[in-house]
Amino acid sequence: MTTPDWDSARAQFPTLQKKIYLNSCSLGLLSRRSRDALNKYMDLWEEKGAAAWYVEWFAEMEDLREQFARLINASADEIAIMPSISATLAAISSSIDLQEGDQLVTGELDFPTVAHGFHAKARSGVETTVVRSDDRVMISPEQFEQAISERTRLVATSRVYFTSGYIQDISTICDAAHNAGAIAFVDDYQATGQVPIDVQEVEVDVLVSGGLKWLLGGPGITYMYVRRDLIPELEPSITGWFGHRDQFAFNPHEMVYKDSAGRFETGTPSVSAMYTGAEGLRIVNELGADAIRQRTSELTSRLVSSLRERGFDLRVPPDDEHHASITMIELDNPGPVVDRLAERDIIVDFRPGALRASPYFYNTQEDIDIFVDALTELTRK
Ligand SMILES: Cc1ncc(COP(=O)(O)O)c(C=O)c1O
Repeated sequence: MTTPDWDSARAQFPTLQKKIYLNSCSLGLLSRRSRDALNKYMDLWEEKGAAAWYVEWFAEMEDLREQFARLINASADEIAIMPSISATLAAISSSIDLQEGDQLVTGELDFPTVAHGFHAKARSGVETTVVRSDDRVMISPEQFEQAISERTRLVATSRVYFTSGYIQDISTICDAAHNAGAIAFVDDYQATGQVPIDVQEVEVDVLVSGGLKWLLGGPGITYMYVRRDLIPELEPSITGWFGHRDQFAFNPHEMVYKDSAGRFETGTPSVSAMYTGAEGLRIVNELGADAIRQRTSELTSRLVSSLRERGFDLRVPPDDEHHASITMIELDNPGPVVDRLAERDIIVDFRPGALRASPYFYNTQEDIDIFVDALTELTRK
């Protein structure tokens, strides 16, 4: 693994000239390259009108699939381009013929949109189990194993939890789902880019991620990997003409699904988000997820040790190996502290009872030190 030139990678993000930005788990920063890509998209729109689709937009969509596939060790035909994580979950659960008494399993620490989508199935008699966390940091694979039964049709959980930065043992959870004949769905929004993954090794069925956070593409663009063998079995009822094998035959008489994961797409995608998304993925692929993980681990361990030295209570995983680049600092009333930090151009965010700091490869150890000093000063007054 060659070490990237982190200073030139950092120089791609103009925000960092003015701010210490430690909030990538909410929104990854805009790079000069994504801005240029967006301009290119608009130039094509202006110059070519609808012909822009054929000159480049469709090709960009294919390149986007390639870029995401490369990052997770999949093939482009296993990738669907989707507008949100919620939409990916809706597409997959609409592909399963759910019956009364069937069970869906998710975790209490997963992003709640997963559980919301599941609870909405209660009117068809489908039961949702939300596995509880004892410490608000993690849920053990054994707890998932105990919750999964022969009635389970879908298990959906994240590789990295958005409120604790805990990295789950996804492989064991996927195995437990498969042993029960259920589909294993991994919400990887907080993980892909910052923690390496190989979908062949993990044997996940569906893995979803997107541009918003660690993949530096902004809102409105998500990527869904569906294992090739599973694709023919899944026929989504939430569908549209982008999922049709002969999209441009305009045939209203029958729905024939694409053979590829493109079958899960519905309508016209946000092309502007495809451009920013593709450039974000190119940056991450060029740097390499292994190098990024090494860099963010160093920043996170400095952050954790400095905060502990100052006596802060942390809500974090028990060891570095399971800790992604999200650190929760327990505070009774974090909102006003986040505002005071923003006045000093230090950007973090909060969730109930904790301030959340999430450095990325473009941060430095100096960023961490300035943040910890400012936080100490503001909370000890
Ligand atoms: C882990 C995780 N999943 C899902 C979401 C929400 O996804 P969407 O708004 O695309 O449905 C978020 C936050 O934005 C998240 O952190």
